[in-house]
Amino acid sequence: MTESRAFPRFPAGFVFGAATASYQIEGAAREDGRGPSIWDTYSHTPGLVANGDTGDIACDHYHRYPEDVTLLRELGVDSYRFSIAWPRIVPDGSGPVNPKGLDFYARLVDELLAAGIEPAATLYHWDLPQALEDRGGWRVRETAERFAEYTAVVAGHLADRVPRWITLNEPWCSAFLGYSVGRHAPGAREGRGALAAAHHLLVGHGRAVEALRAAGVREAGITLNLDRNLPATGSAADRAAVVRADTQHNLVWTEPLLAGRYPHTEEETWGELITGQDFRRDGDLALIGQPLDFLGINYYRPIVVADAPHREPDPALRTATDNRYAEVRLAGARHTAMDWPVVPDSFTDLLVALKERYGDALPPIHITENGSAEHDEVSPDGAVHDRDRVAYLRGHLTALKAALDAGVDVRGYYVWSLLDNFEWAFGYGKRFGIVRVDYDTQRRTPKDSYHWYRAMIAAQRD
Ligand code: FCB
Repeated sequence: MTESRAFPRFPAGFVFGAATASYQIEGAAREDGRGPSIWDTYSHTPGLVANGDTGDIACDHYHRYPEDVTLLRELGVDSYRFSIAWPRIVPDGSGPVNPKGLDFYARLVDELLAAGIEPAATLYHWDLPQALEDRGGWRVRETAERFAEYTAVVAGHLADRVPRWITLNEPWCSAFLGYSVGRHAPGAREGRGALAAAHHLLVGHGRAVEALRAAGVREAGITLNLDRNLPATGSAADRAAVVRADTQHNLVWTEPLLAGRYPHTEEETWGELITGQDFRRDGDLALIGQPLDFLGINYYRPIVVADAPHREPDPALRTATDNRYAEVRLAGARHTAMDWPVVPDSFTDLLVALKERYGDALPPIHITENGSAEHDEVSPDGAVHDRDRVAYLRGHLTALKAALDAGVDVRGYYVWSLLDNFEWAFGYGKRFGIVRVDYDTQRRTPKDSYHWYRAMIAAQRD
């Protein structure tokens, strides 16, 4: 159905995959001993998620995982990236382990292996046990310790069958959307709390890497959503705004992880919020900066940044994200259903710039998410002809290949997402799947993008 001439060719051994996350697809929120997470609390708070949607049922993947693994097998992917729900494993955040939670992931992993698909597990894709949030969440160091304990339990159970492990997914979202903007769980609007959360997430990552090493896993890494921030104009003010945006989105993670230091631009970015902090300890940088086997990168779009005044006039209420820049709409680009601009070249640029900045300190890269939400329609023939998504994937895989050609060591690519799912504060209204989910019947329908991706993977093996 799709012509192969347009397929980019990747080196032998390049990993093609698809990704999902626990709270977005599993459902079964109160089943088999799962405890509540911050996303249960957040989504059940009226007015926070579009349409009042929750992850209570989601794609019912908890019960339908064999069907979903069949979809993956027919797609021909090498690997499947899923996440493990911490509150299924340690329902109260600390204390007793729930064997039924471990069993679910063991069954999923066995099903994947039987289908010839390599499992790639994310340990934290945002569903913090509510009991830990009640004790301070990521604002407090204790949460990092609990995360290490949970990691040791899961890895002790699955390390022999899961080769690739990701500690955290997009800690920027956890720290800043969760504790500063309040658009993600737990919905806090704080300044210092968000910066403390960012640091404790990194400490938790470091402690989890130690636990993964102790369990003997093959590959340990972390997934970041790095941004390509572009200045709205050439003015000095807009360029300074880009420095602040880069610090908050990128350097806050990459500097400690890859260079063993905190960003030198943090004072100009956060001012008094960071100068008076007391959450960093001696030894933290060594813990955070342990060598990684790979760096996961999620990439969707570039961001155009302009200088802007503080939105909050009262300095006492200014949050960490209110740091004097605003996002500007990119003229001339197609925008997806998320209103995100489609600019594949900036994907290449981001990867090349990262390589230039960190050189040999940059581990091999896996693109752990990339994809688009589109205004899908079901045709009278029952199919979903999602041409815009196909064009997005084609464009971004071509741009990724250009980064490889420029010398960036990228080893794999996971499309986001296998299934339409619960898109956080946007609820079910935004569809990122290459497989459509009818939420009334739970029927799965592969879209044209699924068929395109399958043909693209098959063409690599010709
Ligand atoms: C990323 C998240 C993922 C999904 C996509 C669209 O930020 O990791 O769960 O929501 O965006």
